[in-house]
Amino acid sequence: MRTAKSNFFALFLLLAAATVFASESATDGASFDEKLKACAACHGQNGDTPLAPEYPLLAGQYESYLANSLRQYRDGQRTNPIMALQMQILNLTEDDIEALASHFSSQSSNLRSLAD
Ligand code: HEC
Repeated sequence: MRTAKSNFFALFLLLAAATVFASESATDGASFDEKLKACAACHGQNGDTPLAPEYPLLAGQYESYLANSLRQYRDGQRTNPIMALQMQILNLTEDDIEALASHFSSQSSNLRSLAD
């Protein structure tokens, strides 16, 4: 009985540890730089050299447009499997979204406005 009880306790500890571990997904603790690197893999180092022609340029884009797009991917109003997955994996907070949008909008870019 004693053994069963301590086994149960050990199992409880194991489950508790597993729950804590699972809730802290690998990227929860990722720094801003690490998140930025993830974006760079597809959008290019400064958001100005996308991996594929159909991947959008982020550099020089309006900050509010970038932030809004990210919120829409997060909330499912804008659907794209690749970006939806990024939002899930990286678990971006509102602060991350604003910082990423601010970062990419301030990079120099090949984006042109009609005025140029
Ligand atoms: C695996 C490749 C990949 C990664 C990694 C990735 N993206 Fe994207 N991103 C895409 C693709 C593809 C699209 C175009 C999706 C669409 O058509 O809606 C896109 C679209 C976007 C858009 C919308 C741009 C526009 O002009 O409408 C923003 C903003 C964006 N990504 C930001 C980010 C940020 C910030 C990160 C890092 C946290 C990131 N992306 C990581 C592939 C990626």
